[in-house]
Parts: sequence; C-alpha cells; structure tokens
Amino acid sequence: MNTPSEHLMLKALRGEQVSRPPVWMMRQAGRYLPDYIKLREKYDFFTRCETPELACEITLQPVDQVGVDAAILFSDILVVPQAMGLEVQLIESKGPFLPKTIANQNDLDALQVIGAEANLHYVYEALRLIKKELNNRVPLIGFAGAPWTILCYMVEGKGSKSFDKAKQFCFSQPQLAHSLLQKITDVTIAYLNAQVVAGADLVQVFDSWSGMLSPQDFKIFAQPYLEQIAAAVKGAPVILFPKGSWYALADLSKSAASGLGLDWTIEPQFARQLTNNSITLQGNFDPCKLLAPIPEIKKSVKEMIDAFGPQRYIANLGHGILPNIPVDHAKAFVDAVKEYQA
Ligand code: CP3
Repeated sequence: MNTPSEHLMLKALRGEQVSRPPVWMMRQAGRYLPDYIKLREKYDFFTRCETPELACEITLQPVDQVGVDAAILFSDILVVPQAMGLEVQLIESKGPFLPKTIANQNDLDALQVIGAEANLHYVYEALRLIKKELNNRVPLIGFAGAPWTILCYMVEGKGSKSFDKAKQFCFSQPQLAHSLLQKITDVTIAYLNAQVVAGADLVQVFDSWSGMLSPQDFKIFAQPYLEQIAAAVKGAPVILFPKGSWYALADLSKSAASGLGLDWTIEPQFARQLTNNSITLQGNFDPCKLLAPIPEIKKSVKEMIDAFGPQRYIANLGHGILPNIPVDHAKAFVDAVKEYQA
C-alpha cells in the first residue's frame, strides 16, 4: 500500500523522479461514462453534487473504470457563487444560469464572504467519504474556479462567446471589479483550505476563461488573485490552470504553485522554455483527439510525453473530456501513459 506521499502525482508535483508520468483527465467524472448517465437520469445536477454518497460514487467511476492515477471530487466551480448567496441553475444541454447577476455596489454588498465556505459542508463530507472509499489507491484532487472565471459567471449570468459584459464590468468599474475579485478570492482560499483539511491531497484552480483576457488585462484582473490563492493554500500542492493564457506561464512559474496546466495550443518545448524547466507542467492533449482511432491516440500520447519529458510532468487533456468520447478511447489514452517507455 502506498503512503499518500508516494503517489506518482504528488512526486511529480514535488519534482521527484518518477518511473512514468501520472495521468488523469479534466472532467473525468462525467457524461462519457454510461454509469454517470444512469445517475444523471435519476438525480438533478446539484442533488448529485450535494449528496455525498452520489458525489463519492461518481468520483470513483473513472478511477475504477478508466484507471486514472488520481480522483477529482465531483462538484462544480459554481458552488462558490451559490455559497456566497447567488442562485445557480444548471439548464439541461445549455449550461449554468444565474437568475440574479452582479452589476453594482449593492449587489456586491449582499454577497456573503465571511464564513461562506461553511455553506459547502456537503463538499467536505463528500471528500471525507471519498478518501475513505479510495483507501489510498490514488490521491484525491480538490478544486475551485479562479476568481476571474467566477466573476465571468457572476456578471454574465451564463456562458458567453466573448464575455463582453464581464469585461465591460472590469473596464468601466475597475474598483468594483477588484472588490468582487477579492471577495471571491477570500472565499476560495477558505474553501480550498477546508477541502485540504477534509482530505484533498492537492487542489487545482480552473481559470477556464483567462484566455479571454489580453496579457495586460490578465496581469490586472486574473494573475494577482491566482498568486494569492497559490500562496494561501496550506498543506497541499496547487495546480493553476489558466486556459489559453500561455503568455502568463513565465510569471506563474514564479508563483507559489507546484504545477501549471496547459491547453493544447502551446508546444510542450515552448512551455518548458517559458517556465525555465522550473515547475511541473500538466496537459495538454487535445480532447477532440480522443475521437481519433486508438492507434493514433497512442502514438500522439507517446509524442506528447517525449516532448514534455517524463519528469516534472502530469499527463492530462488540454481541457475537459467531451461527452461523445468512447470509453475505450479514454482508456487508451490512460493506458498509453502507463505503458510509456522513453
Ligand atoms: O473534472 C471532474 O470530473 C470533476 C467535476 C467537474 C465538473 N465541473 C462537473 C460538471 C469540474 C472540475 C467542473 C469544473 C467546471 N465547471 C469548470 C471549469 C473546467 C472547465 O471545463 O473549463 C467550468 C467552467 C464549470 C461550469 C460548468 N458546469 C459548465 C459550463 C457546465 C455545463 C457545460 C457542460 O460541460 O455540460 C457545467 C456542468 C457540469 N459540471 C457537468 C459536469 C459533469 C455536466 C452536467 C451534466 O449535464 O451532467
């Protein structure tokens, strides 16, 4: 039986020598798995998140069925706006919807900050249950959304192609925007630290929409908050995933984070160069490439690992797995990493 610190994921994040890179997939607990679909027919999304037994069952599915080297808590980044007092709905085949959005100081004043993380008690209960059920087979990943990405949903009320409303809010009311970003940051830090206390072995911060920002605006509205979170999470390594923000890799490699996630638009060698080989990198397989024939997937995985190098590296997709990926293709991706030989 491994002790937690011997797991490949944690060794890779500490920069220790590994026999092969660890592998997991963003959104690995989800709609490409038939057993997830079955639960989805019975319980609505937030019931699945808020019922520890269901969240635990869904979290374990990809560990048992696909063989990934880490479990990621089944939940959503939008539980943080909920905990701060905003209603969040998940509309079938459309995505998240927040009926009441943030537009002015009054809206901001109504948000709960102090103690908001306590509203997410069901997450900590789920983590404790998952930890017990995992029995140390693989490490457990906790997560939260990054402040900029959460602001996007709080201001727009839903997904967007351009997030122009969120940007308008930042560009025309910067003080208000920074006040909101700081409130989200404070809650997120308390939330992630509570996840670690409940058993998360590492945490990832998803900045899914950071690539919407120019390099200059990323430095103003995203980076300082990511840096604060990386520095304030205690007792577990942090992976930052600033999707699309390749331009920020050099700066973020100097943050307190242990790992940086990459999407598929950057060459591994260039990412190593930007980060001066000083930090563990994670990614960056195009999720759509899992639709290729299995031999093609396996060949591309080998090329990807060769390009990153097998040390200080965590194999993953460059964004979440898609619902139309055949399970045997997801498994081929994981197996190809496990079979890797230089
Ligand atoms: O990675 C995992 O397996 C853990 C679970 C997880 C979910 N959401 C479950 C989920 C994680 C880590 C997330 C993060 C998340 N949620 C992000 C950041 C990562 C990313 O993909 O960029 C974002 C932006 C959200 C917000 C969100 N939640 C959207 C836009 C949607 C709808 C789009 C979609 O993929 O369906 C969700 C719903 C959601 N969250 C589902 C799952 C499994 C689908 C729910 C369903 O229909 O069953």
